[in-house]
Amino acid sequence: MKFFIDTANLDQIREAQEMGVLDGVTTNPSLMAKEGITGHENIINHYKAICEIVDGDVSAEVIATDYEGMVKEGEVLAKLNPQIVVKLPMIKDGVKACKYFSNKGIKTNMTLVFSAGQALLAAKAGATYMSPFIGRLDDISTDGLGLISEIRLIYDNYGFETQILAASVRHTMHIMDCAKIGADVMTGPLSAIDGLLKHPLTDIGLAKFLVDFKK
Ligand code: E4P
Repeated sequence: MKFFIDTANLDQIREAQEMGVLDGVTTNPSLMAKEGITGHENIINHYKAICEIVDGDVSAEVIATDYEGMVKEGEVLAKLNPQIVVKLPMIKDGVKACKYFSNKGIKTNMTLVFSAGQALLAAKAGATYMSPFIGRLDDISTDGLGLISEIRLIYDNYGFETQILAASVRHTMHIMDCAKIGADVMTGPLSAIDGLLKHPLTDIGLAKFLVDFKK
């Protein structure tokens, strides 16, 4: 299972990278704005900075919502670094753009996926990654993890190679549940990854070992 961090915050990306468990980064326009990164040039420079910190794939989202615009933007993004994955919205022109990029061997991530039908289309278009937003589904009392299971079954039925990237992960249990279901990747905040570490018996056991060592 790959671990991506879902942020544009360079300190958090660095911290996850230094732990040695990071496989990539996902960003989106909201996460960029949260860090105060605005304007084409600043955004491009920020993607370059992220790529310098991590070894793995970095999703960079297009802003255009028409096919030509997405292709134009995506080509600029893909040229920045081989680590860049062109992130496209799950709309008809996004599917067309996904097919265009997959034909050219450029990595893609279909984002804002909320149904198994959308996931099937993303796979048919040859997406590298496809991102169902489980937290946002949970927010509206819909079973986000159930959607991951449904997509896993469909992809396995046909051997689709598109990777299920569980997105909108909000907490540690989401990561564990996605791992049990067999999501290929999860993207979440650093706090959710850090949560995997925590167990009171680890802390109690370590404190006792240190006390006993001093005896
Ligand atoms: C995925 O790539 C998105 O950036 C992200 O996971 C959205 O999560 P949110 O619902 O917490 O905004």
